[in-house]
Amino acid sequence: MSPLVYLTTPLPGDGVAELAALCDLRVGEAGAGLSAANPPAFLKRCRGLLCLLGDRIDRALLDGMPDLEFVSSVSVGVDHVDLQALTEREIPLGHTPGVLVDATADTAFALLLAAARRVAEADRFVRAGQWRAESRWAPDFFLGKDVSGATLGIVGLGAIGQAMARRAAAFNMRVIAWSRSGREVPGVENVSLEALLLRSDFVSVHVALCDATRNLFDAERIAMMKPGAVLVNTARGGIVDEVALATALTENRLFAAGLDVFEQEPLAPESPLLHHPRAVFTPHIGSATRLTRAAMVHIAIQNALAAVQGRRMPHCANPEVYKN
Ligand code: GLV
Repeated sequence: MSPLVYLTTPLPGDGVAELAALCDLRVGEAGAGLSAANPPAFLKRCRGLLCLLGDRIDRALLDGMPDLEFVSSVSVGVDHVDLQALTEREIPLGHTPGVLVDATADTAFALLLAAARRVAEADRFVRAGQWRAESRWAPDFFLGKDVSGATLGIVGLGAIGQAMARRAAAFNMRVIAWSRSGREVPGVENVSLEALLLRSDFVSVHVALCDATRNLFDAERIAMMKPGAVLVNTARGGIVDEVALATALTENRLFAAGLDVFEQEPLAPESPLLHHPRAVFTPHIGSATRLTRAAMVHIAIQNALAAVQGRRMPHCANPEVYKN
């Protein structure tokens, strides 16, 4: 009997048909999301799960899936999955590293520039008809923050952090970094996290969300940032205390923030961040380019195909489940 596999949302491309030929593939509705609170009835018989980062794969969900043999997520980050619970059950988790590095670094740099030069605020100003003759052009009109010659502090020097460093070098920025591994990268000065906060005109976050990085930017660390600095986050929302960040913006201790990720997504309309004109937002679209998303879907399906065929997943977040 072909294995029952649940794909929680429709995916573009031909790969899904290839998978459907090898299994009994059920496809959820776009945007419905998966959690232990709303499991479809057939979930308890599923042997495979293809999910997105909005699907919460926790112990409660796994307890209701005794036949589960693999999970494949269309994401590089795996903080939506209880990895330990999967590993205990010897279930491999597929993810999509590598292919979204440049797209995500582009988003981070776009947010850095937009925050520095007040692009979103200026756009709102023009649209609202506020650009009048008296402010046609004035020496101090809409002043932003200089990027060239400024210091960028990169938190996390994995592939995306390194891609950010390359972009910054091309913009004539001085690049310093802190990473938990202490990785050495040419052209990047490694410093302590405290030194990075004190010295950086711009800070860009590129660490994965895990117990060690949750709330890494708490009120105390945000208070240590150089006065007038800009914080950019394209990693995960749980890394930055949003209330502390909103307070620092309101008190003008920070110049601006560029945020693609939030503790709760979608961002709640009552978020204090929304009150600040110099906070620039994008709705978790770091990897959202046509080619990047196609590559992510391709890898996620390759991971699922390998699992269905009894092979090792090419991109597995917990390779220790393969004992030999
Ligand atoms: C995006 O945030 C991803 O983890 O792929």
